[in-house]
Amino acid sequence: MTYSKNIIDNIFGGIRPTSRALGKAATTIQGWYDSGTIPQKHWADIINAAKSFDHTLNSEDFFPKQLSRLESFGYPFNKLHCLSIDDFNRPDIETLLSLGAHYLDLNIQKNPNNRVLKGKTLINLFFENSTRTEKSFELAGKRLGADVISMQIANSSVNKGETLMDTAVTLNAMNPDIIIVRHSASGAPALLSQKVSCSVINAGDGIHEHPTQALLDALTIKSAFKKISGLRVAICGDILHSRVARSNVKLLNMLGAEVRLIGPKTLLPSEAETWGVNIFNNMKDGLEDCDIIMMLRLQIERMSDALIPSKREYFHFYGLDKEKIAYTKRRTLVMHPGPMNRGVEISSEIADDEKISLIKKQVETGVAMRMGILHALSNSQDSIK
Ligand code: CP
Repeated sequence: MTYSKNIIDNIFGGIRPTSRALGKAATTIQGWYDSGTIPQKHWADIINAAKSFDHTLNSEDFFPKQLSRLESFGYPFNKLHCLSIDDFNRPDIETLLSLGAHYLDLNIQKNPNNRVLKGKTLINLFFENSTRTEKSFELAGKRLGADVISMQIANSSVNKGETLMDTAVTLNAMNPDIIIVRHSASGAPALLSQKVSCSVINAGDGIHEHPTQALLDALTIKSAFKKISGLRVAICGDILHSRVARSNVKLLNMLGAEVRLIGPKTLLPSEAETWGVNIFNNMKDGLEDCDIIMMLRLQIERMSDALIPSKREYFHFYGLDKEKIAYTKRRTLVMHPGPMNRGVEISSEIADDEKISLIKKQVETGVAMRMGILHALSNSQDSIK
């Protein structure tokens, strides 16, 4: 997108609103729009008019290059998909977190002037249940001006036996820009990304990864502690079935945190020893001096065998309550990706204590972080067109 289109569309809301705001003929604005440049003698008027639209412009924004907030973060983000934390290097992650922080600072309000995704179509394709991820992507897309379709799988032809790939190819023929997919099979979003011509975001695939959850968790931690490097983070509970844990371990390690995993041996995958983490089987040792405790849901629906004696016994040994949080011996904040099983992995007195619980903050941050991810992918699409 040229800088003139960006200013006309994303700051003033199109050619006619720009014409009204500047008191200039629509044909003049159309000329700037088509040519991609705006004569310097008009810059001061545009900078002044943008203020009444709550935008601060400066002369750098009129340079004949692609105007994008990504460039102002100093790194050319060029990834088209978000399938795994492995897709990203450290500068990519810093760019995504900066964009997420930007939208968090804006208080993620719907801003009619922010039309970064105007003209783009997002399809939510969730084959597994979701409240937070699906709704936050829907909100994030709408707040950036996109058209958002959330597929009702129960009412779709998937129920008549259509496969994931046939569904994806059918949707792809409708020319969406981004498909956000959640599926019970690990690797399904990656496979889908090879069959479609749009960006694909993994919203959780089996026990493999949930990269956007890890990004929103990192942004939540950064907002609370002003840093991530050097923090000690304990991820506790059903690690075996947790895509959230796998993405978080990768991301937190990349960002310099010290990661601990705590859980019963039956809920810790054997390969966790290769993940660059410290592993504990009891909360007393594992929680010592932790800055963050990230509790995980016990995923009974993914368990084929009885991996715990009973929920009651599980809570006794691994459920986070006032007694166990005292093992940390320091001020600790508590996270949980949701949905929570109260009285199984976390007590209500911990989950609802706003002095220590970041759980609601994670949900709020999720919308901002997903706005940042959508913005970044959309920007990459535009820059390769
Ligand atoms: N954390 C998370 O993925 O929640 P949902 O299942 O509600 O999307």
